[in-house]
Amino acid sequence: MDDGVVHQFMARASIVGAGMTKFGVHERPLPDLFADAAFDAFDDSGIEPPEIEALYFGNAMGGMTENDTHLAPTLASHIGCTGVPAQRFEDACATSATAFKHAVEAVESGRHDVVLAGGVERCTPETGLDTGAMTKVFVSAAHRQYEQPAGLTFPGVFALLTKRHMHEYGTTEEHLAEVAVKNHYNGTLNPRAHFGRETSVEKVLDSPIVADPFHLMDCCPFSDGASAVVVASEEAAESFENPVDVAGVGHATDVVPLADKDDLPATQAARDAASQAYEQANTTADAIDFAEIHDCFTGAEVMATEALGLFEDGAGGPAAAAGRTALDGDVPVNPSGGLKAKGHPLGATGTAQLVELTEQLRGEAGDRQLDDPERAVAHNLGGDAATTVVTVMEARR
Ligand code: COA
Repeated sequence: MDDGVVHQFMARASIVGAGMTKFGVHERPLPDLFADAAFDAFDDSGIEPPEIEALYFGNAMGGMTENDTHLAPTLASHIGCTGVPAQRFEDACATSATAFKHAVEAVESGRHDVVLAGGVERCTPETGLDTGAMTKVFVSAAHRQYEQPAGLTFPGVFALLTKRHMHEYGTTEEHLAEVAVKNHYNGTLNPRAHFGRETSVEKVLDSPIVADPFHLMDCCPFSDGASAVVVASEEAAESFENPVDVAGVGHATDVVPLADKDDLPATQAARDAASQAYEQANTTADAIDFAEIHDCFTGAEVMATEALGLFEDGAGGPAAAAGRTALDGDVPVNPSGGLKAKGHPLGATGTAQLVELTEQLRGEAGDRQLDDPERAVAHNLGGDAATTVVTVMEARR
């Protein structure tokens, strides 16, 4: 509705429980992995599974990686929520953020009081698929007619977008490497991160080229993992101990083929989703204390910090190199380690970002805890930057 009026939801939603597995390599079957995250969230909220009224979860590639296309009732019954409405979402890497958005709408509308949102994915060779085979599976999220036949991969998609950003603004490979160094450092402070080892600019630049300008160390890994959050209506949240409020959720799409985008390096969906989320939250980028950003590749983090308004266009690379996005910077980005170091099990990534927001805003993030943050943003992106969900959350004071 474009009438200049700020439209607040009638009721708000809160996260009242958050849980996730460690991201990395898991031998557990997919339903068990999801159950680990779900019960972590149940324990955190103090709720019992039969009290959950609906399940909204993300799993992007299970049809190909698990030969399982009817996961909703399987997962619901596996976590003790038999009989409730359960819905699987697939939106490439933005899968669990779109599931979460629907969970929020379900409690805001009054249809349900308490629901579970989450995601799960297995992407490592434990699935029986090696790097080449899994890369081919992931490419199913690129344009079927124009991009897949040309052999474009996801490192290739984001390499092209990043090259354009470098051309427009002078972003350098060193700027990108600084993003990897920061996120790997943050990952060492996160016991659930896939990688717990530091790196350096030199090591990033010396690692093998995957898709120019990306070296291996500019890329997120293939990970297994799951995450889940208990979402409650404003009224229901009052009976939980430690709610964190969902102030706004924006969701936008863009044309898929890179060749058809008219705003390269293609941040329009992120800009649209951010402006929706900020408007709902009645806030602006200046009031954001930290961000969890979809850094599938280092260049993606730089571009997203600009699309979210945290920095001017072109300033994201120098800001990262100057330490402004570090834990002790003025706009910390990816305190969890991000996709780069925490890992990226596609369907689990969106709600894992919200687990980090919840823990930071409660002051429960351990060694990586930021200094009393009040408001944070999460940015989860899918495919050729063609689906983006942006969520603003606020601490209760
Ligand atoms: N970051 C840091 N280290 C990584 C890594 C990454 N992304 N990927 C692998 N490694 C490490 C491994 O732990 C291993 O270390 P070790 O020798 O100490 O055990 C080493 O590098 C080799 O691992 P391997 O699994 O053989 O690497 P690979 O060459 O098969 O795959 C990539 C590396 C970067 C090509 C792969 O991780 C990739 O394609 N990532 C992108 C995934 C993607 O596109 N996701 C969707 C985003 S939209």
